[in-house]
Amino acid sequence: GTDTLLRVTPSMLKEHRSKDDAWTAINGKVYNVTHYLPYHPGGDKELMRVAGRDGTRLFALTHAWVNADLMLDECLVGFLVSE
Ligand code: HEM
Repeated sequence: GTDTLLRVTPSMLKEHRSKDDAWTAINGKVYNVTHYLPYHPGGDKELMRVAGRDGTRLFALTHAWVNADLMLDECLVGFLVSE
């Protein structure tokens, strides 16, 4: 975990869209999912679809029952804010 949480704008989020530096936002929280990529049951390719952008909608469409909040707690980077 981190003790310094960031205010992340959509353009900042967009800078983290590669497999070795992947961030996504889910329900207003921004997560660094880089290290989770190889462990995602749906595969890294599917997870990369939300890299660098707000993944809330796609996440809810694929598995609304998964608790991202708990699962990705250690990956929390900060909060999504407007530009
Ligand atoms: C499966 C987590 C993003 C597509 C799963 C499962 C977890 C998980 C825990 C297993 C669920 C179960 O078996 O009940 C996450 C997390 C994500 C994320 C933490 C975001 C950080 C996505 C995205 C997509 C996706 C964006 C699609 C674009 C899938 C698919 C499966 C899956 C298709 C089913 C795999 C299978 O059972 O064959 N994910 N997921 N996931 N996920 Fe994700």
